Amino acid sequence: MWKGRFQQETSGLVQQFGESISFDWRLYPHDIEGSIAHATALHEAGILTRKELSQITTGLKSIRADIDAGTFEWKSSLEDVHMNIESALTARIGPAGAKLHTARSRNDQVALDVRLYCRAEITAILSLIRNLQRALVSSALAHKDVIMPGYTHLQRGQPVLFGHHLLAWIEMLDRDADRLTDALKRVNVMPLGSGALAGSTIALNREGVAERLGFDRVSRNSMDAVADRDYIAEILFSLALTGTHLSRFSEDIILWVSAEFGFVSLSDAHTTGSSLMPQKKNPDVAELTRGKTGRLYGNLLSILTLLKGLPMTYNRDMQEDKEPLFDSIDTIKITLEVFAEMIAGMQVNAPRVRAAAADPFLLATDLADWLVLKGVPFRKAHEIIGQLTAHSLSTGTAFPDIPLETYQQLSPVFDASVFSVLTLDQALKARTATGAPSPANVARELAAWSRKLKPASSPRRARKQAS
Ligand code: ARG
Repeated sequence: MWKGRFQQETSGLVQQFGESISFDWRLYPHDIEGSIAHATALHEAGILTRKELSQITTGLKSIRADIDAGTFEWKSSLEDVHMNIESALTARIGPAGAKLHTARSRNDQVALDVRLYCRAEITAILSLIRNLQRALVSSALAHKDVIMPGYTHLQRGQPVLFGHHLLAWIEMLDRDADRLTDALKRVNVMPLGSGALAGSTIALNREGVAERLGFDRVSRNSMDAVADRDYIAEILFSLALTGTHLSRFSEDIILWVSAEFGFVSLSDAHTTGSSLMPQKKNPDVAELTRGKTGRLYGNLLSILTLLKGLPMTYNRDMQEDKEPLFDSIDTIKITLEVFAEMIAGMQVNAPRVRAAAADPFLLATDLADWLVLKGVPFRKAHEIIGQLTAHSLSTGTAFPDIPLETYQQLSPVFDASVFSVLTLDQALKARTATGAPSPANVARELAAWSRKLKPASSPRRARKQAS
């Protein structure tokens, strides 16, 4: 492509070192879509005749069909997806193909392609997040009466509903979806027309190209447009945090399926056996999810490190942005998908969960609250129930079995009505503030999520849901 200035062929080793076709080939649908829009703008500007435009469009579509069919021959000597397609086009249609790159550089071309790719992938990831949320809602609804211990420091703390625990995951995933949706605002900006770095003396209608390609706006500075990879860093951060969330859920699940907890079991289809120990059933999906989070972090760090020393504007280093981006997107997509399947196949062992929740110590805070409602300052109430706990531990007597006289020795405020606090149903029913796990609240939240996550049945509804 640059043979005019050079007397020597590029060294084979440099070709091997510099090629990106082995990974950027997957940008081809976007490269072709972008080139058709660019050619249309060139025609409107009088650079291409109507006939040339139609040759280019037909040629590009035939190339796309061949790539789709797996019959296109990629050449690493042509470096990247952009030059492979342009060269094939010229080979197919002749001189008109050689006009396509007018007023365009690979710098703005690659920026366009990657933005189109990110936009499509974000849309796909958002729907996978919604799917996983749906699986969680279904599981919560299927076990809506199951009371479980809630933990802090992995020590039993207070009772919650199983559905409340799953709702916490749903909320985390919702912020992930929000972050990606927000990143989309900065992704959906059209860079073409920025040229190598300073635009072009051939002024094209950039707004027209943006409209044709469904962009919200055009970039405002040609140098920024070819140098900017912020949107990739943002996406990689969002995906890294989604990975963090899925990794934490995985840790819950790994604990829950252990014999020690025995709260849930996973389907055979979503677990693996051991090559040695015949009895084993391992939660590999959860473990791999936890493990894959490492590469999501690594990819974020790659892009940040890649960018930190780069002077304006485009530098070839930036070719290294793609593999981390592709890897994080591929990783999160399959993880979300398999995780949703695993959750759909998850069985809750309700008797085991209820037995764990029956630990009377889970109601210690409620006893302190009972004293507070009788006028005892909270710090004092905390101390009294602490003493009651010590008594319970040393005598091996649970709160409901300790005689009222013992309660009254610790505080004269106690009367027989204190025992009404000591049931799980009462403990949950009393937790009525917004966000607390009363059965009514949890049912309301689940109903709201079911409504929000209802699969779009009509395009109109889909648009409304998206906005
Ligand atoms: N393959 C290149 C990349 O991914 C395309 C842009 C090349 N631009 C250049 N000036 N060499 O960054």
